[in-house]
Amino acid sequence: MDRAGLSRVIAVINVKGGVGKTTVAANLGGLLAASGYRVLLVDLDPQGNLGEELGYSGTEVDDGGRALALSMTTGAPLSPVPDVRPGLDVVTGGPELDPAAAHLVLAAQADPQAAKRSLIGLLGETAPDYDVVLLDCPPGQEPLQQAALAAARWALIPVKTDASSRKGLRDVARRLDTVLDLNPDLDLLGVLLFGVNRGAHRVIESARAAVAEDLGDDAPVLRTTIRHVEAAAQEARDRGLLVHELEEAVMAAPAWWQIRRGTPAGDGPRSRSVLGLAEDFQALGSEVIERIGAAEQAEESAGAGDGRAAGVDRGAAAVDLSAREEQGGDRQRRTRPDVLQGA
Ligand SMILES: Nc1ncnc2c1ncn2[C@@H]1O[C@H](COP(=O)(O)OP(=O)(O)OP(=O)(O)O)[C@@H](O)[C@H]1O
Ligand SMILES: [Mg+2]
Repeated sequence: MDRAGLSRVIAVINVKGGVGKTTVAANLGGLLAASGYRVLLVDLDPQGNLGEELGYSGTEVDDGGRALALSMTTGAPLSPVPDVRPGLDVVTGGPELDPAAAHLVLAAQADPQAAKRSLIGLLGETAPDYDVVLLDCPPGQEPLQQAALAAARWALIPVKTDASSRKGLRDVARRLDTVLDLNPDLDLLGVLLFGVNRGAHRVIESARAAVAEDLGDDAPVLRTTIRHVEAAAQEARDRGLLVHELEEAVMAAPAWWQIRRGTPAGDGPRSRSVLGLAEDFQALGSEVIERIGAAEQAEESAGAGDGRAAGVDRGAAAVDLSAREEQGGDRQRRTRPDVLQGA
């Protein structure tokens, strides 16, 4: 099976709900797109929360997942909504995915391997049009999760640091195991500690130890952690803005002293805590690109000339953002010129 076109497919996954999967998929995808990468986000969740995160929920592009469900049941090519943000296309999810997921459950009873393979062909056709593809996985829906993992090159696992998240981690480890026969390329991009209280060093250290115990000593825990700032996260979702977009809006809003001097406050964004959160996502973007770039370079030097070289070459060219910008590439940086300069 030629998986070269899938070499940049990242499943954002955890068996546990509410651990930041959608927030991470949306913000990582949005930041990479703002930095000039062509990004596809696929909402595999019948909850359709990605639409709230990106602000298209209830608009005319929100089909509740109908097109994706149709693709999954008939094999019709995916039809992403173009330019939800510049450079960011989205395959929308939502409740229409429920019947497709039920169909997958039945298919898995008849032929488990075929059900697991159900996204490989669809993404294999579409992923080569993009530099990065992020799959926002539902918390339950085992067959959908398995289909995502079978098509992905990478798994990115957001986890919270509370005790109950431990069990989720063991479950997700088992789920990764269930597709390895079909997808030996699947690798752990990293475990991302999400919603971490600043300064909680001991909590972070014990979470790292828990990851090593449940996923193995060599399981990578990302350097980056995403801080807990409920007000900013809530405001971003309520306004349908990504964190870096909310940050820009907050920076542009009048400061308290301007308001005192007579500038109307309006109902503009006000969660200044978003500034630190935006830094965390920026660091996440850099670390993800760094890790994928390092893996691709290692594969390239190890396997020059083998079947995966084409995908690796395409990837390596896209990783070096600064070099491409200097060459005046046709893709311009968009809203935040400095987004991934650390990469
Ligand atoms: N940095 C943050 N600090 C605190 N809360 C956050 C932060 N980022 C997001 N949240 C909130 O955490 C909740 C869960 O986030 P999210 O929807 O991304 O998780 P999920 O894993 O996708 O959930 P589900 O399993 O239901 O799909 C949301 O209400 C979101 O607003
Ligand atoms: Mg979600």
